[in-house]
Amino acid sequence: MPSDDEPVDEGKRNFLKVMVAVSVIAAAGGAVKAVLQNVKTPVAGITSFPTMQLYWVPPNSTSSIPVPLKTADFPTNSPSIFVFDYPLQGEPNFLLKLADASGKPIKIESTEVTIPATGAKFMSAPGVGPDQNIVASSAICEHLGCVPPIIHYYTPGTPIPGHPGLVNTYKNGLIHCNCHGSTYDPLHGFAVVTGPTAKPLPNVVLEWDPVSDTLYVKSMVGPTIYGKPSDLSGGTPFPVGTTTTTVTDLGTPSS
Ligand code: FES
Repeated sequence: MPSDDEPVDEGKRNFLKVMVAVSVIAAAGGAVKAVLQNVKTPVAGITSFPTMQLYWVPPNSTSSIPVPLKTADFPTNSPSIFVFDYPLQGEPNFLLKLADASGKPIKIESTEVTIPATGAKFMSAPGVGPDQNIVASSAICEHLGCVPPIIHYYTPGTPIPGHPGLVNTYKNGLIHCNCHGSTYDPLHGFAVVTGPTAKPLPNVVLEWDPVSDTLYVKSMVGPTIYGKPSDLSGGTPFPVGTTTTTVTDLGTPSS
């Protein structure tokens, strides 16, 4: 042990200081790592379904700025794919205004729909608008998650790949997924018509304001969106204060 009279070895002292500091940092780092390993990555989401007004850029508009969508301007039985995000960003939904082959609007009533995968039942979202023929659903296939344009609405009388008999049986149009052949009935809660899907498309609950002729999205019913335990989590919420979602025309698919 050095006596008080011995000269202090500054180099040795500094070396020891550095080693102590390194040990402290290493220990702290290990503790932080342990804490981080025990903290689950937070799942982004929202606590309830937001109410959002549907906006769009009307066909032939001279402006690219979206405005409230009026049902009178929205095309009936359009072969074009119209989608909007809800309840989180990047989660597409179909918007459909349905009519029979002659163009006569089809009033769509709420009906009991079975989820074949579980046997559970739910009441479908009814049609809204002046003719009660406007409906919406998730546009993500409940089989393995294919999205538009490979899944889309086939207008009345349009042949459906792999299902020639369906045109006559379901003469008022169907949603079909070309990935593996699942088909859904938009007139009856987007129920399963053909597999391999074992779940209907989640229904979007719409509300029509007759004064302004505009549409609002309120919530969803039926199974959850494909691959999600909850419609409200596991995605990217809209920025706080967002009250509108924009309907986009993806165009008409070739098949
Ligand atoms: S993902 Fe749609 S049928 Fe398979």
